[in-house]
Amino acid sequence: MKIVFATNNNNKLREIRQILAPGFTVLSLADIHCLEELPETSPTIEENATQKARFVYENFFKKNLITEKIIGCFADDTGLEIEALDGRPGVFSARYAGVKCIPEENIEKVLGEMKGIINRNAKFRCVLSLIIDGAERQFEGVMEGKILNQKQGTEGFGYDPIFAPKENFSNRNGGEDLISFAQMLPHEKNRISHRGIAVNKLAAYLLSL
Ligand code: IMP
Repeated sequence: MKIVFATNNNNKLREIRQILAPGFTVLSLADIHCLEELPETSPTIEENATQKARFVYENFFKKNLITEKIIGCFADDTGLEIEALDGRPGVFSARYAGVKCIPEENIEKVLGEMKGIINRNAKFRCVLSLIIDGAERQFEGVMEGKILNQKQGTEGFGYDPIFAPKENFSNRNGGEDLISFAQMLPHEKNRISHRGIAVNKLAAYLLSL
């Protein structure tokens, strides 16, 4: 089954291809010759996911620019919600340190705001918006965890070096140390992550059609 993943983020594309292989062929925006930045100007994660998926549906599927047999398209919007920061950065996760900031700057801002704060509880929330023949359906994945005091690991992307998922609180070395997403191999992160949870729900729905 072929499906378009509407994202400008190659890290997300890589993760979702790994999770959905081999049953699904996930096409990128480049594969359908969509070279534009996707709009994501909405006030919530849910609406941003809708906005991105609708953009591709309206401009490519509805205008019959898709020539091969592709079932539909979906988009992902994800936010890191930190309890002690009243849910921030949330929907602003991508541009928390400024409109054109790099992930490193976002991490520094979060670590600065979390300095001296005991409550480190946080969660990643991923919402996928799927559009098939104009009809939309959303799938959510949540992974709870803790914000670390400093960066750990080099795998993954975005906030991965400072987020330790709950699933790994008792780590594989038998110690008490928290393991960040960036210290996991890609398949280990995908197995438990917010995105993995949401994508598996989406896959189950597609297979039920
Ligand atoms: P968006 O969903 O593309 O708007 O991404 C929101 C922000 O969260 C960006 O800064 C991403 O780098 C970050 N982000 C999204 N997914 C993940 C993830 O799985 N791990 C770490 N950071 C992420």
